Amino acid sequence: MAGSLPWKTAWITGASTGIGREVALQLSAAGVRVAASARSAEKLNALGAGVLAVQLDVTDAAACRSAVALIESELGPIDLAVFGAGTYSPVTTDELNPTHFAHMMETNYMGVVNCLAALAPGMIARRSGHLSWIASVAGYIGLPKAAAYGPTKAALINLAESLYPEMRAKGVSVSVINPGFVETPLTAQNDFEMPFLMKPEEAARRTIEGLAAGRFEVAYPRRFVAILKAVRLLPYPLFFRLIARAVLKSG
Ligand SMILES: NC(=O)c1ccc[n+]([C@@H]2O[C@H](COP(=O)([O-])OP(=O)(O)OC[C@H]3O[C@@H](n4cnc5c(N)ncnc54)[C@H](OP(=O)(O)O)[C@@H]3O)[C@@H](O)[C@H]2O)c1
Repeated sequence: MAGSLPWKTAWITGASTGIGREVALQLSAAGVRVAASARSAEKLNALGAGVLAVQLDVTDAAACRSAVALIESELGPIDLAVFGAGTYSPVTTDELNPTHFAHMMETNYMGVVNCLAALAPGMIARRSGHLSWIASVAGYIGLPKAAAYGPTKAALINLAESLYPEMRAKGVSVSVINPGFVETPLTAQNDFEMPFLMKPEEAARRTIEGLAAGRFEVAYPRRFVAILKAVRLLPYPLFFRLIARAVLKSG
């Protein structure tokens, strides 16, 4: 991949573990200057001297602005951002705790908005750059136990669709990354079978490939994505019958 990528400087959030970590490492190995953010400084430092570790809590909007200023003074203008910081925990109908819902929205959705708001003005002024964020195939449809997580990912897909046309007119690319199940600390807590489970190395490879190809939506694995997109189009009685059988194993 070395030498063939269209970016000089990338900022990856959620880069201490999982998909973000692999994206940071693969971009760095390909010769891109990489800044990696997450809350765990120790894990970021373990990425090696070639990656600039920028500790950050994405729920802090002012800290996101400071992070952009620091990265651009150290590495130059950021021309690729992959906002991957995110969290997940299941909810059931017996535990509808608003604090839990708010926390997930603050991290997954507002975390992206905070980073975006800090970085976009510079890209618009330069009329160049690529802004992307990791949503999920869980944003396509409402899934059992994902009542707190799914809406944050649906919102991120909608955010990308909303911004794409105007950003494009200003010379800035916007894209959304929708992975299926990837083997990371985030999914390690799942006690159910995860169809089409991928390794984070493969998810990162497909992410970078899709972004470099200039796709608006980078979604994988393809078969799982196609199934979920087809399910989304079903009439609701059929949709709920299918979900009950496939996910709740009832009905
Ligand atoms: N794994 C999957 O199957 C899957 C599928 C679809 C979408 N996704 C999405 O992909 C992204 C990466 O997930 P992953 O599976 O790689 O999970 P992961 O290994 O748990 O990584 C999550 C990352 O987000 C960081 N993070 C969490 N809260 C943060 C905060 N407030 N500020 C800054 N960083 C924060 C974590 O680092 P610290 O704890 O050090 O802050 C970590 O680096 C997430 O947005 C997730 O929703 C994952």
